[in-house]
This record gives sequence, C-alpha cells and structure tokens, in this order.
Amino acid sequence: MIRDLIENNRVWSARKTDGDPEFFRRLERQQSPEYLWIGCSDSRVPANEIVGLDPGELFVHRNVANLAPPQDANYLSVLQFAVEVLKVKHIMVVGHYGCGGVAAAVDGQRRGLVDHWLHPIRETYAEHRHDLEAIPAERERLDRLCELNVLRQVRNVASDVFVQDAWARGQALAVHGWVYSLSNGLVTDLKTTITSATELEALI
Ligand code: CO
Repeated sequence: MIRDLIENNRVWSARKTDGDPEFFRRLERQQSPEYLWIGCSDSRVPANEIVGLDPGELFVHRNVANLAPPQDANYLSVLQFAVEVLKVKHIMVVGHYGCGGVAAAVDGQRRGLVDHWLHPIRETYAEHRHDLEAIPAERERLDRLCELNVLRQVRNVASDVFVQDAWARGQALAVHGWVYSLSNGLVTDLKTTITSATELEALI
C-alpha cells in the first residue's frame, strides 16, 4: 500500500535523528559525497544500501543496463556536476549479473525505444562475439557480457572530456568497474581501475 511508504518514511526519519539530531540539518546545508555511482535501474541493486553509505555520501546515476553513452545529456550532466562541483574522488560503474537490460539487448526481440538505448551493448557483443560464443551456457555468456559492458562503460567515463580535464588539472579521480551479484549481494571489483590519462592510453 502506498500509505505504508509514508509511514515507513516517518519511521526512517525518526531513526536517523535518534542519537544524531543534527543529521538532516547538516545535510540540508551541503552534500559532499566522494563517490559517483553509475548503476542499473534494477530495483534489486540499491546503490547506497549495497555499500553501506548514508544520505549525502553517494552521488547516484542509474539507467537501464548502467550505460555511460557519450551523447546522453542526463549522464553527462551528472558526470560534470560530480567531477567539477562535488569533486568526487571515485566513480564506479556498477553492472550486475542477470541484468535484464543486457539480456534484452541481444535476444533479438523488438521492444521499442529501449532497443535503441541498448544499442551499445549489441556493439560490445559484436566486438567480443568470438569469445562470447565460445561460452556454451547462455547464463554464463550473458554474465560475461555484463562484465564486458562494465569494462566498456568504464572506458567511456575515463575518456570523457570532463574526466580528462580533471586529470589534466591534477585532480585525484579514479574510475572503477564493479559487478554486483544478485544471488549473494556481493560486489566484485573487475580490476579495471583507471586513475590517469596515461593509464587509459595503456588500455586502448
Ligand atoms: Co540491470
């Protein structure tokens, strides 16, 4: 029931100020998160909860299949604000195994607008077709595609001019690629962290 949500909210708010009466007043004055999370919209991947962060500690951008398309004004606005105004120190692109968006990108069915949105994933699939098609089980093949999609989006973020300019200014900024498992709630670091323009060049 929708009414229950308002009731939950009252309880949550009271719990936050129990023992820390200044909690909301402090946040009202300013936010200073050190992290930008770029993740999937999937309801089973709640950004703050997974990494144990409070309001004010994580700047979040979520869309279907955790994409960072270099022409998407929504993502770019978030990225610029996070890097230039909030000066976050870490950006994590977080995919998840069993991603419906990733599966929908390559199942050949027509769904409409989302097929266009998911186009970059089909490109990633085509780029790695040989390796992917060598994986016999469909689920494992799709899980690998989820990882490859994260690696690709990490490169998109790291090669973006906002990030490149931050590095050129000497700003400390690391871009990470993670994948979350719905089956056990654990995050795996894909060990693709990029912390400078030089590191990105070595990768391409
Ligand atoms: Co997903």
